[in-house]
Amino acid sequence: MKKLYAVIGDPIAHSMSPAMHNDLFGFYDIDAHYHALHVRKGDLQKAIIGLKAIQISGFNVTVPHKVDILPMLDRLDPLAEAIGAVNTVVNEDGELVGYNTDGEGSVKGIMNIIPDLFNHRILIVGAGGAARAIYFTLASMGIKNIDVTNRTSEKAAELIAQCPYTVNSSVLLREDAENDLDEYDIIIQTTSIGMAPNVECQPLSLHNLKENSFVSDIIYNPLETLFLRSAKDKGARTQNGIDMFVLQGALAFKKWTGIFPDQKRMEKLVLNRLG
Ligand code: ATR
Repeated sequence: MKKLYAVIGDPIAHSMSPAMHNDLFGFYDIDAHYHALHVRKGDLQKAIIGLKAIQISGFNVTVPHKVDILPMLDRLDPLAEAIGAVNTVVNEDGELVGYNTDGEGSVKGIMNIIPDLFNHRILIVGAGGAARAIYFTLASMGIKNIDVTNRTSEKAAELIAQCPYTVNSSVLLREDAENDLDEYDIIIQTTSIGMAPNVECQPLSLHNLKENSFVSDIIYNPLETLFLRSAKDKGARTQNGIDMFVLQGALAFKKWTGIFPDQKRMEKLVLNRLG
């Protein structure tokens, strides 16, 4: 019987995940289909009961359900539980198990360019869900030099305090982060600042950026944010959010099918769709 997969969210019409996964099912000759399902905030519990009843094989979870879904699942991967957000669910012998591939997707993307993250100082910009996923994933790997700057410092302090792995982290005010930017080798931008349509905004000035640093932005619309353009102007290497998006999908696909899919193929499809 054809296997069913889905992404649930609100809004969901513009999700690129169905095209990405259906292309992979075709490419790897897997008899399955991936649907975009519009699930409103108040309907999540009912939707989960329904998805379990129809024996869905797996699904992705996006805004606004990534946190609310936790208590509705049968089991949680320890890292997803620590992060407090789930973006991938696998039906394991009738039990719905929650994972988070966002953090690993981002970290894998960075490691494709900088394979050894241990001897670098890392600054995370932002302290929301994406920042938590990335910080906790880095911390779970034993990486110790990670600082955080966020508009609301209390949220950055909370993120660090809630991390179950030991990290030597400081919270930086925006001005301090801007002044001391030359102390960082890797900067990971996790906020929504600079995303279309507000493309002329950036979360902090990169005036003091080190020339040979590496700057990653989770945003992929636009492909080059003002933040990344400024980083490039300072001589830094940059990476947009396409890699993280593709890799979180690739990691989900691997959990569902056992196959780690062709990253280049996925990237080409996503870039085509973005026009
Ligand atoms: P996500 O789950 O996508 O990470 P989120 O949890 O809402 O989204 O987090 C958004 C992040 O972007 C936060 O770090 C937020 O800063 P605050 O914690 O101070 O709210 C940051 N952010 C969003 N809009 C911002 C703005 N206009 N200026 C500065 N930071 C902003």
